[in-house]
This record gives sequence, structure tokens and C-alpha cells, in this order.
Amino acid sequence: MRSLVHVPLLFFLVVSSQGFLQPAFSPRHGASTRLFARQQNQPAIEVPVMNEEIKAKEIRVIASVTGGKDEALGIMSLVDALAKAKELGGLDLILINDKADPPVCKIADYSKYRYMLEKKAKELKKNSKATEIKEVKMSYKIDVHDYDVRKKSAIKFIKQGNRVKATVMFRGREVQHDNLGFDLLEKLAVDLSSVCIKESRPKREGRNISIIFSPKAEILKAVNDDRKNKDKSKKQKKRQELEERMAKKDGTSAIADDDDDDDDLMDDEDYDDDDEDIDDDSLDSLLGSDKITDDLFSR
Ligand SMILES: *[C@@H]1O[C@H](CO)[C@@H](O)[C@H](O)[C@H]1NC(C)=O
Repeated sequence: MRSLVHVPLLFFLVVSSQGFLQPAFSPRHGASTRLFARQQNQPAIEVPVMNEEIKAKEIRVIASVTGGKDEALGIMSLVDALAKAKELGGLDLILINDKADPPVCKIADYSKYRYMLEKKAKELKKNSKATEIKEVKMSYKIDVHDYDVRKKSAIKFIKQGNRVKATVMFRGREVQHDNLGFDLLEKLAVDLSSVCIKESRPKREGRNISIIFSPKAEILKAVNDDRKNKDKSKKQKKRQELEERMAKKDGTSAIADDDDDDDDLMDDEDYDDDDEDIDDDSLDSLLGSDKITDDLFSR
């Protein structure tokens, strides 16, 4: 178990030594494409245009070499850029922005580049799960008590990491008082300013006026830290439970065959049903492994 913890490090070493020893190592040879074959649950990332597939004759080049720091190499011809990529240890030239003039390319180890993108995409996906839009609605004639109730629920939603849409609704001719609606939302913005920021100014939508608030960075960070800690203790619990189950299984097999065995099996099945929230991710972390490294080693 213990040594598996070092697998991600090993992964980098293997990839970079490959890049170094075999300058021809490039996804076009099929290796990386297979290596990063998309798995269920994994965000889709398009394979970029790279190396000889790049059409532009002149490009702006950034190199990502040691330490992951980017270095601007300026504008050069495609031929020079390809030579530079080779010179830097058989790296790939990856088109990262074809909208720019000239297009921007990055010299990097494609496997590492891809790995970082996937890591980022995964993190984004994880963080966006809790980010919902909650709505609080009110009339422009709202009284103090009702206003406080709306304010409190907005604060609660924000502190959970959600965005909040506050809407002031008007009926029929009430719309002539829309300045009161704008004032109300500005007041709400001030009252909520310790926990959130305005995503934009109050806007009119038909008869409504609304504004969207999003949690301040420190609130989001607290929410994410909290979630991470919960995930961690959940995983710890799963690991413990798994160990207990294994110990239990060993124990029962040591006992001579008797009717109890069937009961144990039943218990285990019930147990599995409760466990449906063990997803691939938590299993991976239980095993201290991940799919990318699995694929790497099964090649
Ligand atoms: C006004 O807000 C209410 C409540 O959120 C919503 O049901 C309605 O569709 C909105 N009207 C417009 C024109 O956006």
C-alpha cells in the first residue's frame, strides 16, 4: 500500500525520461492518445493541433520547460519553433491559441501538458458542483421583517458557496416605481457586502429587476476547504470500513463452515447498498492510484 503513494511522482519521471530518451515521442505515434484515452467521469479535453499539423508559417512561442514556468520566446517561423522544441529535449509544439495573430504555440511535454489540463478540468468540475443559483424574490413594497428574512436566506446560500439571484417583482403599473426596486437591490448589495460581490449591476428583465451576487473568494475557499476536509474524513472512514470488512472476512474464513456464513454474506450485500457513494474517484484514492498511471503501466 505504502509504496503506491509515490506512483504519481514515478509517473512524471517515466514520462520525462521518455521525452528525453526518445525525442520522437509524440501523440501522433499513438502512445499519448492511448495513454489519455478518455474514461467515464473524466472531463473531455480536445486533442490540440500540434507539431507538423500546425499550418501557420509564423507563430508566437512560449516554452514551458523546467519548473513549469512559462517563458516567452517571441515570434518565430514554424520551422524554427519545431527545431527549438526538438532542441529543448524532444518536446512538442502545441497550438494553444489559433485566434491570435500570429497564433500562439507552446513548447511543452504533451503528456504533462495534458495531465495538468485534466487535473484543472477535474477540479473545476468538482468545485462547480455546489455552485448553483438560488433565488430570493421580493416585492418593492417589502416590509422590514420580510426583507430581513430574504437577507438571511441570501447570506445562508452564499455561505454554502452558491450564487444568489435577487429579484424584485412588479405587477402591472407598479413598474413606474422601478427606481425603488433598484434602490432596494443596491441596499441588499450593501447589506450582503461582507460575504459577496455583485456580479453585475441590477438589471431589468421584463417587469422584474434582478441582480446576481457571487460569494467572495474567501467564502468560496472556506467552502472548498470544508468540502475537502469532509471528503478526506469520508475517505478515511471508507478505508477503515474496508479494512474492518477484510479483517472480518479473514475472521469468518478461519471459523469452520457453519450457517453463519450465509448471514455474513447477506450483511455484506446490505453494506454494499449503503456504499453506493464510493465512486471511482474515492476508490482510486483508496488504492492510491489513478487511471492515468494505470494506463501507463498497462501499456
Ligand atoms: C420575474 O420573476 C419571477 C420570479 O422569479 C419569474 O417567475 C418571472 O418569470 C420573471 N419575469 C421575467 C419577465 O423575467
